[in-house]
Amino acid sequence: MARITLRELLDHAAEHGYGVPAFNINNMEQVLAILAAAEACDAPVILQASRGARSYAGDIMLAKMVEAAEAMHPAIPICLHQDHGNDEGTCFSAIQHGFTSVMMDGSLEADAKTPAAYDYNVAITRRVTEMAHKVGVSVEGELGVLGSLESGQGEAEDGHGAEGTLSHEQLLTDPEQAVAFVRATGVDALAVAMGTSHGAYKFSRKPDGDILAMHVIRAINARMPGLHLVMHGSSSVPEALQEMFNRYGGQMPKTWGVPVEEIQAGIRHGVRKVNIDTDCRLAMAAAFRKVAAEAPGEFDPRKFLSPAMKALEGLCRERFEAFGTAGHAASIKPSSLADMAKRYRSGALDPALAVDRAA
Ligand code: G3H
Ligand code: 13P
Ligand code: ZN
Repeated sequence: MARITLRELLDHAAEHGYGVPAFNINNMEQVLAILAAAEACDAPVILQASRGARSYAGDIMLAKMVEAAEAMHPAIPICLHQDHGNDEGTCFSAIQHGFTSVMMDGSLEADAKTPAAYDYNVAITRRVTEMAHKVGVSVEGELGVLGSLESGQGEAEDGHGAEGTLSHEQLLTDPEQAVAFVRATGVDALAVAMGTSHGAYKFSRKPDGDILAMHVIRAINARMPGLHLVMHGSSSVPEALQEMFNRYGGQMPKTWGVPVEEIQAGIRHGVRKVNIDTDCRLAMAAAFRKVAAEAPGEFDPRKFLSPAMKALEGLCRERFEAFGTAGHAASIKPSSLADMAKRYRSGALDPALAVDRAA
């Protein structure tokens, strides 16, 4: 069994100068495909479940699928992470089900729609961090609201995300405030707002610095080089996948995601966790459409799901290679949660002390 905490994994990534993709999971096929890619690349991996995933599959099913993945791939360190926890209850129930990391997203109130006040964010994130660290579990916080610098809109594509129009001040994490936030909350990793948003429709053109604010990453990294940064909304929405989706009857207007080379630049400046869901969905959905179009009589779900798993596996392999994650699994020996709890108690895991030789 090789379950690892986010903190231990990202400390290793920082020490060796790589980033780790965090892929969202909802079902067995995604787990199988992501782990097949991790095994092929000798890459550690973060599997993350949103609140939607937890209600779709159920906590017991998700937990058992990840246990099965560990048994099938004992050499691959797996971090099981709560994506966008909205309150203490979501985070603590995840821990009860074996998650080794939780995101307390206090950038929005518990309704996951209303931008929250800074003091609210600090208070709720600190409460979660204090409790989670007592049992060795890691915490990711978020400062700034995810959304488009082009439109000022938060993302509501999946029924969650900020509502209404947001100012640039809300949409861009303030680097000075980020340092204060990390100090006040003790989070192990910080998600930043920099113009990325969830879903396929991130940018109406290839993003430049006006709409994808990589300078925010560089500014925080310069102030706190040891801090692990997290890029959300980091699907690249590859043109080839858009074309395949549309070729087989899909209707996706032309769109741009976050170029892989921008993520690689982020990794050189402290980005350690890269959240990817949309690309995985698109890879699978394009494969479904191809089968449906080419074999309209087909009704065996496996005939749809097998090529979809292959497509997802290929995408994950590309990201493991591009982010430098490949080749690192074998050298990681995960600590127990009890050991991690001890290290937090001893003060050895101050976020500012995290190793970062790449900076
Ligand atoms: O947080 C965003 C992820 O893409 C998860 O989306 O809530 O539809 O599972 P979801
Ligand atoms: P994408 O929608 O760009 O894949 O982002 C996923 C994400 O940030 C999950 O938290
Ligand atoms: Zn996200």
